[in-house]
Amino acid sequence: MSTSNGEPLAVELRNVDKAFYGVKANDNVSFELARGEVHALLGENGAGKSTLCSILAGLYRPDAGEMWFEGKPALFKTPKDALAAGVGMVYQHFRLVSNLTVAENLALGHHDQGVRLDQKELARAAEELGERYDLAVDPTARIWQLSVGEQQRVEILKLLYRDAKILILDEPTAVLTPQEGQALFKTMRQLAGEGRSIIFVSHKLDEVKQVSDRVTVLRNGKTVGGVATKDADARELARMMVGRDLELPTRSASAPPGEVMFSVSDVRVLSDRGLEAVRGVSFEVRAGEIVGIAGVSGNGQRELAQGLVGLRRLTAGRVEIDGEDVTSDTVLERIDKGLAYVPQSRLGMGLAPGLTTEENLALKAFRRPPYSRGRTLVASAFRDEGARQIEQYDIRGVRPGLPIRLLSGGNLQKALLAREVELEPKVLILRSPTRGLDVGATEAVRNQILAEGVRGTAVLLISEDLDELMALADRLLVIYEGEIVGEMQTEEATSERLGLLMAGQRVEESA
Ligand SMILES: Nc1ncnc2c1ncn2[C@@H]1O[C@H](COP(=O)(O)OP(=O)(O)O)[C@@H](O)[C@H]1O
Ligand SMILES: [Mg+2]
Repeated sequence: MSTSNGEPLAVELRNVDKAFYGVKANDNVSFELARGEVHALLGENGAGKSTLCSILAGLYRPDAGEMWFEGKPALFKTPKDALAAGVGMVYQHFRLVSNLTVAENLALGHHDQGVRLDQKELARAAEELGERYDLAVDPTARIWQLSVGEQQRVEILKLLYRDAKILILDEPTAVLTPQEGQALFKTMRQLAGEGRSIIFVSHKLDEVKQVSDRVTVLRNGKTVGGVATKDADARELARMMVGRDLELPTRSASAPPGEVMFSVSDVRVLSDRGLEAVRGVSFEVRAGEIVGIAGVSGNGQRELAQGLVGLRRLTAGRVEIDGEDVTSDTVLERIDKGLAYVPQSRLGMGLAPGLTTEENLALKAFRRPPYSRGRTLVASAFRDEGARQIEQYDIRGVRPGLPIRLLSGGNLQKALLAREVELEPKVLILRSPTRGLDVGATEAVRNQILAEGVRGTAVLLISEDLDELMALADRLLVIYEGEIVGEMQTEEATSERLGLLMAGQRVEESA
């Protein structure tokens, strides 16, 4: 219950179990957090990281197990209890009140109801903390006026305002640009330097390597092991995380691209609110080329993708597939001319949640052989083709007759991608194809995208994940406020250069 130098551990968990509806999210988990360390919690999606954090933060009560806080037995009954003891968490989904100010949010849940809050005093506290920890935000701003990165800073400020000694950050970098991520790491190191402890949840090995002192790996709800970060190499950590050797595929120097297959000129698209979300975008994608569009979410990516596939009207511009003008074609006509699309929301926009996997796989091709002969549907084709594709694309967890929505995110994405590439498209547009997927599914999806490039498809990959873009794309464009603000070959790209462009800073081009 204490470290080698005799100091009590900040937190210790022993043999913790927590199940949801019979599924063990945490299975006999043990975890030790020392004072003054950044401790990474690494694991694939669904490994049980958030559950463990929520137990520490008093949101969930474990079914079994013990917990000590600074050497004394403790089990927090509520997040309020935990915070009063000095343990606070920034959840993946922020819990700020959007129409209150930063200062008001700081006080929320802290000061007793009825106490009149001194706004000036609060604002001063927010400003002071913001300055000390490099977490500057305008204390008078309302939450809805802030960027996601700023909102995250408010969440951290809230914990510091309560003088939390243990800060739990659940996948904090998922919503940040690379620069914002670096700034957060600096703050984390500073906090640790003051003797606070940080639990940093991530599934990104390079981040864990960079910022943490120790790593605990979770897999399938179980602790696989804990190591000092400096003693762990990335391969070993990946193996602990996934349970097997694994290498994320990256593009190799590919054949020179062919003819222009997809041409987009001066396209303009309105947002739902009638504002111009895409403001004159032009680019080309050649056969066999993978072109990436990088950008922070909300800079016109959604409207651009929907405009290109025909789900949203263009107010200006022209789109061509293989030299043919499709600007005024319907979605269906574009599909027939060779356009395939993997949208960001797999269920709903992508797949029909209530239909079976086999039916979903046939959803775009059923008017063609082998599904149809003349005007007749061939029942056996649904079964045979379905079975073949499920096997070929390694779609797991399919139960005959049951709706596809019961599959996990990774398997949904494999099914969606299978359906699209089975059409042998000329142009494939994907949005954030591996978002939220675990490493195994990410590997499969990346391989499939690379295979499309090799097959000669013109691939447009719209993503917020720079690692993914750098690994797959031949050429990169950066979108900011509806405009393409930068273009480069992937070899010339660095995450710093991309990050600056994504944040709206035009980079001085050196001659
Ligand atoms: N509130 C909940 N209700 C039902 N199941 C849950 C809940 N929270 C987590 N789970 C399940 O527990 C497992 C672990 O989830 P989680 O702790 O969120 O993992 P991670 O944060 O590592 O992705 C998953 O199978 C998930 O579906
Ligand atoms: Mg989680």
